[in-house]
Amino acid sequence: MNERRINILAIPGSLRPNSINRGLLEAVREVAPVGVQVQIYGGYAELPVFTEPLDDGPEPESVRELREQIRDADALLFATPEYNGSVPGGLKNAIDWASRPYGNSPLAGKPALVVGASPSPNGARWAQADLRRILGVAGADVIDSELAVGRAPELFDADGQLTDPSTREALADRLRTLLAAVRQYEATPTAA
Ligand SMILES: Cc1cc2nc3c(=O)[nH]c(=O)nc-3n(C[C@H](O)[C@H](O)[C@H](O)COP(=O)(O)O)c2cc1C
Repeated sequence: MNERRINILAIPGSLRPNSINRGLLEAVREVAPVGVQVQIYGGYAELPVFTEPLDDGPEPESVRELREQIRDADALLFATPEYNGSVPGGLKNAIDWASRPYGNSPLAGKPALVVGASPSPNGARWAQADLRRILGVAGADVIDSELAVGRAPELFDADGQLTDPSTREALADRLRTLLAAVRQYEATPTAA
């Protein structure tokens, strides 16, 4: 029997060239099983700063693309850095856009899993906790899981490739958890 393809939208919290969080998502793409497509979102820079008057006007193209990519995804995988103990502003802005239109957000019921990395031993734990809370308030079906990758630059080579086998295995484990949530969601959807 042919299983259908599963689409994961991977959302890094950083636009930085050689971002360690984007590097985690690139590694997830490498460990993804056949039939699982991992697409990395890269459109933050085009998103306007969310304001309610803008929300009432015509939908900006960059916002339409973000919402469409989320809607088309079977699940979301976030990799966030920590800025001043929380989620980077660009990521929060994207979630605020995706949380609308009120009552018809593409985030509603969407399985979502959060991982994170930082150069400190903390592994962006505070940002991950905040991101799980924000996503839950916005209506996503947030998986109660964490992967805090501390001292992360030591785990990558000069080309930005993850070289640490245990982190790679931990990412594969979180991906399996997310895929199980997708199958569970398909069996018993909680949102349209
Ligand atoms: C404005 C700012 C605030 C930061 N605050 C924290 C912090 O609270 N905790 C932390 O562990 N790292 C902090 N950092 C360091 C980031 O974790 C580091 O820049 C990281 O590499 C960013 O992730 P990226 O490589 O995916 O861009 C901060 C960096 C910036 C630019």
